[in-house]
Amino acid sequence: MDRDEKKRAVARAALEFVVPGELVGVGTGSTANAFIDALAGIKGRIDGAVASSEATAARLAGHGIRVVALNAAGDLPLYVDGADEATRHRHLLKGGGGALTREKIVAAAARTFVCVVDDSKLVDRLGRFPLPIEVIPMARGLVARALVGLGGRPERREGFVTDNGNEILDVHGLDVLDPPTLESELNQIAGVVANGLFARRAADVVLVGSADGVERI
Ligand code: 5RP
Repeated sequence: MDRDEKKRAVARAALEFVVPGELVGVGTGSTANAFIDALAGIKGRIDGAVASSEATAARLAGHGIRVVALNAAGDLPLYVDGADEATRHRHLLKGGGGALTREKIVAAAARTFVCVVDDSKLVDRLGRFPLPIEVIPMARGLVARALVGLGGRPERREGFVTDNGNEILDVHGLDVLDPPTLESELNQIAGVVANGLFARRAADVVLVGSADGVERI
């Protein structure tokens, strides 16, 4: 079973959490795309979707799924998204696709956050994948120096601008021993918009696709 098949399997499994007649929050990336494709099969049974990025909004609209702005959405029962790394504590490292800020906002608005990953993403400790941090462009140097002070090696994501008009620093070598504490600490650096640790609002459920099937954590 290849990775794409595992992504499709977890995406299908996440449909079980969709509440009929309600809105669905949708993440960004290839696994979230597999979920959008699966959601298209039941689009008549949902009210619409709240997108975490322009790319996701375009894919949803391409399937004829109504896209609703978060400000116009009332209750949001569910958010489904992928991750770059996930632990058995349901802490996540996200932002490989650069959509981390809007993903964090939609996750915060949702009652239930279901994360969908293939088994290559399940780790004992977060941080092998470089941690994405969205920064206000004028603060890039200031934030980078603070990150070096924390033991990280920040690299600017060249040629990339977020949907919010900001830049991304990918931080290598950070020791993520205590994800909720580091998440808060990084948020205190002036110029940081959001960081890719999803630990304070962790996933409620992580679905892991492997050759043996879909495990629910
Ligand atoms: C985008 C993300 C994605 O969820 C993460 O990068 C995983 O993507 P993929 O499912 O393509 O591996 O956080 O900002």
